[in-house]
Amino acid sequence: MTHPIGIQPGALVCVTGANGFIASHLIGLLLREGYRVRGTVRDPSNIEKTGHLIQMAQEAQATDRLDLVPGDLLVPGSFDQAVAGCDAVIHCAAVVLFAVDDPQRNLVDPSVKGTLNVLQSARRAGTVKRVVHTSSMVAVYSFDKPKGHRFTEEDWNTSSTLDTDPYGLAKVSAERAALDFVAAIPEEERFLLVHLNPGMVWGPPLIKAHAKASPALVRDVISRAQPGVPSLMLSVVDVRDVAQAHLQALRSEDPPARCLILGHNAWMPDLMRDVQAMFPDVRMGTRRLPKFVILLASLFDKKLNTAQLRKLVGRDLPMENGLSRAKYGMTYRPLKQTLRDTAGPMIEHGWARVTRQNPG
Ligand SMILES: NC(=O)c1ccc[n+]([C@@H]2O[C@H](COP(=O)([O-])OP(=O)(O)OC[C@H]3O[C@@H](n4cnc5c(N)ncnc54)[C@H](OP(=O)(O)O)[C@@H]3O)[C@@H](O)[C@H]2O)c1
Repeated sequence: MTHPIGIQPGALVCVTGANGFIASHLIGLLLREGYRVRGTVRDPSNIEKTGHLIQMAQEAQATDRLDLVPGDLLVPGSFDQAVAGCDAVIHCAAVVLFAVDDPQRNLVDPSVKGTLNVLQSARRAGTVKRVVHTSSMVAVYSFDKPKGHRFTEEDWNTSSTLDTDPYGLAKVSAERAALDFVAAIPEEERFLLVHLNPGMVWGPPLIKAHAKASPALVRDVISRAQPGVPSLMLSVVDVRDVAQAHLQALRSEDPPARCLILGHNAWMPDLMRDVQAMFPDVRMGTRRLPKFVILLASLFDKKLNTAQLRKLVGRDLPMENGLSRAKYGMTYRPLKQTLRDTAGPMIEHGWARVTRQNPG
């Protein structure tokens, strides 16, 4: 059942991990564009997780086009109800952490087994024509490439291990497992599988929990949670552009098998100095930290992965976004707009701990 025909408005689309940062923006966009959405949430009765989605549906006059149902990556068959009768699935749910206890159980399994779980439900449904999997640029870049190598969709992460980078391993393993799964389906029953590989996603957090997702890097600088900023090269992309890329992956008649979704490459200390300049009355921790201080700090902070930081700090990882422009017509919004819209809501709503300059 190969259907390379774009999924058009009016179609029923399942979005996993609906309450998450990227999925929330995507669901708002899908509803505004006229799609019917079935979102999965681990606990749909938790209004803290779903309130903003219901509000977005009201604003789009689309409450009759949004349904929220349970779905847990690690419970076999858990997505059967969510995917039943759907035309397409966008699989966003994942554990997004760089360091955890027992990385196999807590990071790689939800990613790999969870993705297969969703794909099995899609196959059982018999109605699904396309699955868009939110992978990551970490499934593309690899530390075993020569310095200066420019990464494209042709590249695969072959260097991450459970010890050095379990998140990278989780994402690349899920992509590969998904490809194998679909290849094993008889061709006439196969759905189209498309991977998107976004960079570091920032942009407006819609609820406090989103400020703890990838925008937490900005929140920690505003809150002065760390003594300063590491020299990390970031490929920043706005969450609204990432949502747009998902929409394009859904409706494009000829989507590429995988596609890097990247806005701008920049060093993190420079980015944070821009954020400080936008909010001059807030005292932020924008000092560039020497590498040895970061590595030392990571030994005492369970959220930081020392082995990964050793490789990442100070290293340029040039990436290309030409395919996304050519195939999906992507244009990326200006970096300064993304920075302002990431930090602004955190300061305004108190989702970051704010100290004012020269209080009193
Ligand atoms: N943010 C980035 O910079 C970035 C960059 C590239 C790729 N991505 C990918 O984009 C996707 C979405 O990321 P995000 O930034 O939106 O993360 P997020 O805000 O943390 O959202 C993750 C979602 O996954 C759900 N989830 C986690 N474990 C689950 C489980 N066992 N069963 C069911 N659902 C589970 C979470 O539900 P709970 O709220 O219940 O935990 C949440 O809804 C992920 O696949 C991530 O790898 C993110």
